[in-house]
Amino acid sequence: MTPWMRKIHKWIGLLIGLQLVLWMCSGLVMSLLDAEKVRGREFRAPAAAKRPWPQDVQPVGSLLAQERTLTQVASTGWLMDRPVYRLVSEKSTQLIDARSGQRVALDAALAQRLAQASYRGPGTVKSAELVDKSLESRAHDGKVWRVVFADAEDTTVYLTLQGDVLEHRNKTWRLFDFFWMLHIMDYSGRQDFNNPLVVSAAVGGFWLALSGIWLLFTSFSLAEFIPKRWRGTRALMIHAPDGSRLRSVRAHAGDTVFSALAQQGLQLPSNCGGGQTCGLCEVRVRGAAPDATSADRALLSPSRIEAGCRLACNLKLDRNLDIEVRGGAELGAVHDAEVESVRALSPFLREVVLLPKDKLGPDYRPGSFIQIHVPAYKMGKHQIESPDEHRPAWAGLHLPTQWTSGSLLRRSYSLSAPVHQTNGRLSLLVRFCHGKQGGKNHPPGKGSSYVFGLKAGDKLKYSGPFGDFAIRHGEREKIFIGGGVGMAPLRAMVRDLLESGAEEPIHFWYGARTVADAPYVDEMQALAARYPNFSWQLVLSDERGTEHPFGMVHEVVRERVLQSHPDLQACDFYLCGPPAMLAAMLALLKKLGVEDDRVAFDDFKI
Ligand SMILES: Cc1cc2nc3c(=O)[nH]c(=O)nc-3n(C[C@H](O)[C@H](O)[C@H](O)COP(=O)(O)OP(=O)(O)OC[C@H]3O[C@@H](n4cnc5c(N)ncnc54)[C@H](O)[C@@H]3O)c2cc1C
Ligand code: FES
Repeated sequence: MTPWMRKIHKWIGLLIGLQLVLWMCSGLVMSLLDAEKVRGREFRAPAAAKRPWPQDVQPVGSLLAQERTLTQVASTGWLMDRPVYRLVSEKSTQLIDARSGQRVALDAALAQRLAQASYRGPGTVKSAELVDKSLESRAHDGKVWRVVFADAEDTTVYLTLQGDVLEHRNKTWRLFDFFWMLHIMDYSGRQDFNNPLVVSAAVGGFWLALSGIWLLFTSFSLAEFIPKRWRGTRALMIHAPDGSRLRSVRAHAGDTVFSALAQQGLQLPSNCGGGQTCGLCEVRVRGAAPDATSADRALLSPSRIEAGCRLACNLKLDRNLDIEVRGGAELGAVHDAEVESVRALSPFLREVVLLPKDKLGPDYRPGSFIQIHVPAYKMGKHQIESPDEHRPAWAGLHLPTQWTSGSLLRRSYSLSAPVHQTNGRLSLLVRFCHGKQGGKNHPPGKGSSYVFGLKAGDKLKYSGPFGDFAIRHGEREKIFIGGGVGMAPLRAMVRDLLESGAEEPIHFWYGARTVADAPYVDEMQALAARYPNFSWQLVLSDERGTEHPFGMVHEVVRERVLQSHPDLQACDFYLCGPPAMLAAMLALLKKLGVEDDRVAFDDFKI
């Protein structure tokens, strides 16, 4: 029920979230405003003391006899010092001077004097006019006199046609009234707090509060309310994917598997430090796996969830658990390496070759990645050296003069060449994440900045290798499709296949913006010339008029390969590139009926 509840809560929240903010904000503003000013009492003179009715007036009976219309009500009153009879008929109200028996015309001059009498502020009358019913005198039906005073509050006095003072309005009241309108959601009359809009929003808000309380409680586990030392411990058995037992650790109930392993010095791969956003800390639960959470579903494919895979940083040790980890033997290892060379391949792509201190084992296979440990640092843009031809591209960035990274981080980088072809070196292809995106300048990436600041001779630490992106050897035709730094693992795989004597057809389609942005073009062309079973095609999305096809790589591949291929089911696909390209390619292959298990891909999320 919780996932549904979360989904409905999210959408209802989106629908009425703005009104909730308006309710709180308008409530706050109204409560902060001066109540005396809002009521218009600041400049309002106290009501005149009740006066006795004078003796020297004409009897009302004789006046009524003179009236031709049928009078329904006759009452007495005062217009300042003048006693008046108010004769109300169906059609009109007459004011009669009780002493002279003359009709009193309530004109602008009299309205001004009456308003002035009810006013004790510093202002003078600016204008007086007869107006139709207005929002400011909305409680009264029909025409009213509006008398405006020139004072700091823009006081406006409203009078009935019988000379009664209705309201004193001012700037503070107008502000209050605007927020009152937002509060009760009556945008026309500003009076009706039973209107259907406010009732629906209130019901939605109430439901949102109840479901929020529900979700709050379900997001806690009981263990979180109990201090760690009282929680007892649980056993975590770690297996390799082949089922062999690697290690057993104990941790407090309620800890995540990620932190339980970290406490023992075992580091699962992670780009987000346990923040449930990178998806690298995947483990497989042996036996019954707990229900997948929304973070699991967001980052792991349905088939992996079905197979019992979960994010370790989101997997609680509520009971003893048996898990499988890839690269299990490597979890505890931190390796030293020295930077052997750094080569700028394009303005923002660098080949970084590391000489590891230890000899590399067979698990450093094409498709795997290592995690570079990025120490806390402070760096300036002058520390990133570039060849002259790349300087204009760097000058177009708005990098801060200095930026920092406050704590140890780990960042993943794929091997870009098979280690047996590099004499045991780790060759990496790294893109500088400069943060310029859609007209905005975000801070540059912390890990890629560090790598771009490295020079030959620098020392660093890394862990790994990790990952399950790997070649499936065999005779099936292989189609590699990539873009950006997706070149790294695909290049390593292609080179490994070709140089180990693979004879099946191998195609590599690579997308870049321009020729200048594409790394290893000459190398790929040389491989295509040397190996008849290998074809290579560069696709350019931003540069026309070259020998290379123009367009988005997934679209060009669809038109030139997939639509006309006689048997797509006989092919294996290997994909790696920017998230949008990857998503489009996966959707396209699915649409074309290619089975999921014939498609291997690595998502760098950049
Ligand atoms: C399995 C795997 C293999 C990988 N292999 C490679 C590889 O071979 N080569 C490679 O180059 N990369 C690779 N990556 C990606 C790499 O691990 C890093 O994710 C990448 O280098 C970016 O890390 P960063 O620390 O530089 O950026 P981060 O500091 O993590 O920032 C990420 C992005 O956010 C932007 N940003 C920063 N602050 C903000 C903000 N406030 N608002 C909005 N945006 C912001 C940054 O500019 C940057 O573009 C791989 C990733 C995975 C998961
Ligand atoms: S560590 Fe990144 S998702 Fe778990």
